[in-house]
Amino acid sequence: MTRVVTAAAPANIAFVKYWGSRDGERGVPLNASISMTLTRCRSVCTAEFHPGEDGGDDEVWLAPADAEPSPAPEPFAAPVLVQLQRIRRWASASGRFRVATRNTFPTGTGLASSASGFAALTLAAASAAGREPSPEELSDLARRSGSGSAARSAYGGFVEWPAPETGVEPPTRPGGMPTAGPYESTAIRAAPIASHEHWDLRDVIAVVGEAPKAVSSREGHRRVLGSPYFETRLALLPGRLAEVRKAIEARDFDRLVPVLEAEAVDLHFLAMSARPPIHYWLPHTVTVIDAVRALRDEGTPAAWTMDAGPNVHVICPADAEEAVAGRVSGLEGVRSVIRDRVGRGPETGAGPLL
Ligand code: PMV
Repeated sequence: MTRVVTAAAPANIAFVKYWGSRDGERGVPLNASISMTLTRCRSVCTAEFHPGEDGGDDEVWLAPADAEPSPAPEPFAAPVLVQLQRIRRWASASGRFRVATRNTFPTGTGLASSASGFAALTLAAASAAGREPSPEELSDLARRSGSGSAARSAYGGFVEWPAPETGVEPPTRPGGMPTAGPYESTAIRAAPIASHEHWDLRDVIAVVGEAPKAVSSREGHRRVLGSPYFETRLALLPGRLAEVRKAIEARDFDRLVPVLEAEAVDLHFLAMSARPPIHYWLPHTVTVIDAVRALRDEGTPAAWTMDAGPNVHVICPADAEEAVAGRVSGLEGVRSVIRDRVGRGPETGAGPLL
C-alpha cells in the first residue's frame, strides 16, 4: 500500500562555520561547526512510497506555494534521486518514490535551503519507506546527501557537528551513486548543545540578493582548501568553538559577537583568497554590515554573520529584534527582511503537497 509522509525541516545559521570538506560528495567536514536552528526558514517535503514498484522511476516535483507543482529540473533532481537511492537502501525497502518539495524562503542564495531541503526530504522519504529515522540517524543520513550542514538541521536549538577523526581516507570512487566507502558507513552526526528554550535569539535576515549564487557551496568547500590562509583559520577554530559553547551556555551575547563576526569574515576571506576566487558579496551586503555596527555603537546588541551568499543574518537577543528589524528594513538595497528565531527542529505530519 502507498504510504505518504510530509515532513518540515528548518534551515540553520552557523555561528562557527563548516567551510572546507574532507569529502564533498558525502558532506564530510574538515572542521567542527556550531549553529542555531531556525523556525520560519524551512523546507516542506511530501514523500509517497509505492512498495514493490521499480525504484528507477522515482519522481521529483517542486511544489511552490504560489504555483502548480511541476517536475523538478535536472540539476535540482539529480542529487535528490541519489539521496532517494541511499534512503531506500538504508531503510532496506524496495519501491518507488514520488517526492515534492517547497521552501518558505529564497532558494540557493546562501540561506541554507539545501540543509533544510535535504533534512526534510530524508525525514519524509525514510519515514514513508517504513523506517522513521531518529534525530541521530537523520543527522547522519541527511549529511550524506553532500549538503553537510543538513546534519545540523536534524535538531532544534543550538547544535554542534564534530569533524571526523583524521586518518579515515575518503572513498576512491567520487561522484555518482553512493559507494560503500568509509564516509558512507561511518556515522558523523551532529548533537544538540542547548535546546531552543535555552536562549531566545532572533535572526533578522536582510535579503540583498535573490538570484541563485554562481558558485555552489559544494564547489566552495573544495576551492577554499587552496586558500593560503586555510590552515590559519583551522588553527584558530578550537578557541572559537570553545568561546561559542561558553557564550551559549552562559547566554552571554557580548561574548558571542566577536567570534560570530570573525567567522563570517573568515568564510568570505577564504572564498575570496581561493584559487580561483569566489566573491559572494554584493554592494549592499556592506550597507547592512555598517548598519549593524552603528546599531551596536548606539547600544543595541546585534551581530552579523553570513553563509555562502550575499545576504546578511543579524543575530540579536529577543528584546533587540524590533530595533534591528526597523533599522535593517529601511536600508537602501534591502529587498526583503525575514524575521526568524531559534526553533524546535524538524517535524512530520503536515498536509501533503501533491
Ligand atoms: O551544507 P553545505 O554543503 O551546503 O555547506 C554550507 C556551509 C555553509 O553554509 C557555508 C557554512 C555552514 O556551516 O553552514
